[in-house]
Amino acid sequence: MKLDAVQQAAQEQFARQSRNYGRSHILADVSDVTAALEKITLPQPARVLDVATGAGHTGLHFASLGHEVTCTDLAAPMLDRVREAAQERGLTVEMRQHAAEEFPYAAASFDLVTSRIAPHHFSSPESFIRETARVLRPGGWFLLIDGSVPDDEEEAEQWLHQIEKHRDPSHHRLLTPRAWTRLCETHGLRVQSAELRTLKQPDLEWYFDTAATSPENRRIVRDLIAHAPAAARAAFRLAEEDGKTVWWWPRLTLIAKRS
Ligand SMILES: C[S@@+](CC[C@H](N)C(=O)[O-])C[C@H]1O[C@@H](n2cnc3c(N)ncnc32)[C@H](O)[C@@H]1O
Repeated sequence: MKLDAVQQAAQEQFARQSRNYGRSHILADVSDVTAALEKITLPQPARVLDVATGAGHTGLHFASLGHEVTCTDLAAPMLDRVREAAQERGLTVEMRQHAAEEFPYAAASFDLVTSRIAPHHFSSPESFIRETARVLRPGGWFLLIDGSVPDDEEEAEQWLHQIEKHRDPSHHRLLTPRAWTRLCETHGLRVQSAELRTLKQPDLEWYFDTAATSPENRRIVRDLIAHAPAAARAAFRLAEEDGKTVWWWPRLTLIAKRS
């Protein structure tokens, strides 16, 4: 697998940090996935592809509903975490190691493609969307859940980008709902809904530890927070609570259908 620099940074970062993404991580709460599922009609069982599965919270949830799930990720240690969690929960999933930008599957092989809290690492969101459209059968579904920023909030977006990039240098880019919608529509995925909901970042120190942020980058992030522009303070409700630095991330849930 030949990787570009962005993919390589993500692979190294998540290989090192795979043990931080287990049951105690906030991603173990899949209520965002269950809420989205109310709007999606699937055959039983459905063929589900979970791209950049991490520790597998999303893919394993679909397996627990009786679907045939393929969990994929760039980082082999993450797939080890999925294997352990699947064993613990008595679930079966297929696991494949590959990038989100190029899939080793035939056209029209899946009923649903999901990717949750990962596409902001992808070096080419466009290749990811093109591949998603290719492997979905006509009428198949795409569920994207990812950190995002409101449309037309450039200053706030720039600030959050700097925060994320310093906290975890494998971060690539947050896209707005409008940008994801354009990509989907360009590649034959008809967007059914695209909603931003906020989710609390509960403690900056925990957030640093999850990514093993270097001391120098922690200093830069604290400085960015101390000097946050008003637009960022308002957009992300940046605050101090019980001695902890917290904010609210906009999280996008986008549901699209293959035409
Ligand atoms: C935060 S975790 C994903 C969380 C998971 N989807 C869930 O629902 O709990 C991000 C994952 O994206 C993977 N990743 C990052 N860039 C990738 C890429 N270009 N292709 C495939 N996987 C990638 C990382 O290896 C990591 O496991």
